[in-house]
Amino acid sequence: MKTWLSILLTALMGFASAVPSQAQVKARNGMVVSTSGIASDVGVEVLKKGGNAVDAAVATAFALAVTHPAAGNIGGGGFLVCMKSDGAVTTIDFREKAPLKATRDMYLDEKGELIRNENHLSVRAIGVPGTVAGLYKAHQKYGRRPWATLVQPAIDLATLGFEMNWSLAGDAQYFVEQKSPFMSRYFLGETGKPTAPGEVWKQPALAGTLTAIRDRGHDGFYRGEVARKIAGFMQENNGLITEQDLARYEAMERPPVKGTYKDYEIYSMPPPSSGGVALVEMMNLMELADFKKLEFNSAAYVHFLAEAMRRAFADRAEFLGDPDFNPDMPLERLISKAHAKKRYAEIDMSKASVSDSTRFGQLYDGDSTTHFSVMDGEGNAVSLTYTLEYGYGSRMGSTELGFIFNNEMGDFNPIPGTTTSNGLIGTRPNLIEPEKRMLSSMTPTIVAKHGKPYLVIGSPGGRTIINTVFQTVLNVLEFDMEIDKAIEVMKIHHQWLPDRINYEKDLLSPDTGEILRSMGHAVVEQNSLGELMGIRLDAENDVMIGASDSSSSEGKASGY
Ligand code: DON
Repeated sequence: MKTWLSILLTALMGFASAVPSQAQVKARNGMVVSTSGIASDVGVEVLKKGGNAVDAAVATAFALAVTHPAAGNIGGGGFLVCMKSDGAVTTIDFREKAPLKATRDMYLDEKGELIRNENHLSVRAIGVPGTVAGLYKAHQKYGRRPWATLVQPAIDLATLGFEMNWSLAGDAQYFVEQKSPFMSRYFLGETGKPTAPGEVWKQPALAGTLTAIRDRGHDGFYRGEVARKIAGFMQENNGLITEQDLARYEAMERPPVKGTYKDYEIYSMPPPSSGGVALVEMMNLMELADFKKLEFNSAAYVHFLAEAMRRAFADRAEFLGDPDFNPDMPLERLISKAHAKKRYAEIDMSKASVSDSTRFGQLYDGDSTTHFSVMDGEGNAVSLTYTLEYGYGSRMGSTELGFIFNNEMGDFNPIPGTTTSNGLIGTRPNLIEPEKRMLSSMTPTIVAKHGKPYLVIGSPGGRTIINTVFQTVLNVLEFDMEIDKAIEVMKIHHQWLPDRINYEKDLLSPDTGEILRSMGHAVVEQNSLGELMGIRLDAENDVMIGASDSSSSEGKASGY
């Protein structure tokens, strides 16, 4: 998704950013679809040299940290879902953790009120980064090409530079004008002025940090000089993260959440992401629907989607958090067909349910995460979503290290016990505890058919991620849309509370909106939902079909 900054700047500066109409791209041997064409090409080069999908994913992720710094990162965290050619599926959880010094009430003042911006835009909003640990673990277990060869392309991009694009140049100008202490220096670099579109932008400090990671792997980030500098930065700025936090960080391999939809198997991310559980819950509900009466984009269809979303998000808020701190989450029950049947029975097809505002609410989610999808020619697939939370995360970093820290601590429930209809969730499973992972909505997903990858998909967008992935999967599986169409067509978002349907402007007919209102729904337009990056495998014809969402100005499906 373009960041709000770039959207604002594009409007202010009076130029239209180039939005290529990304039709589908076909390939036989391998494909990478990401929000940066440069990064997609880096991944495809790795495949061409004999790397597998995991190798390509590692190289793409490091390249995105250079070319798409709003969300591509080494200072944040995320999730990887991998299906191997033998049909086995696994996931790597590299979500950030709360520092050891974090406490449940750390964002509250003496009156128990949330200190403004403290959990989103302060040094104390930074979680212990997980990306390097996750990429390293994925490579150690499932990669094939030498580690250094996967980090090197990112080092080259940072050292030699790459052509500044309009979107990034807009962000740079914004931060320079705002005199944002770290971000303005980050973008000004050695030249002292922002790089104009078309000029080459270099990041020598980032290249140095990446070199330590290339040479020493996991330890290049979590121990030694880089770790000392991170801890030094935290100490100087009253942050919480110490060398001990970094040394103790470990990415976790976890079994995927598994569901089925008709003849398909769905694999997605388990907690600490809520994405997989909510996706499977909603797909189970959809399986019960009578699609003869639910034509795509009709009021009945949108109503049913919204009711499914409302229920899945209520369960999300009530039950989900870090599994290492919540051993009793009822995951099996939530993703069971029986649970869907119960939920289905509660849905009135003629009128909206009412979300109970005394129980669950919403938090503001940031505006930058990024997803990419990979398939290789051997039948391996990787679906990876990672984030800094807000666009450019905390907007803080060390000039010596050249990367941006996340502000992921904002994904914890900040006020224990306080849940409001339009502000906050305060449920227990996602309260802050030292070394706990904050609940996420990221939903990197692989749908399989007869044990082979069929669809690799994911998106940024905070809580909307779950719903945009859900609708794209449904569009392919139920409505037989090709991947590019499935990504582009109208999507909605409902998240329990606030109790309203958001829909994509110009894509829902005003008449349908009126019918939904008459059923009791609040209906609100928004510019766009999601920035999906997907690949579908047409196994019969031995073709991979990829598409990047047209809301990404630099996105590209790259294949060979
Ligand atoms: O983990 C999460 O769910 C959020 N921190 C993701 C934020 C996000 O997707 C912002 N993106 N557009």
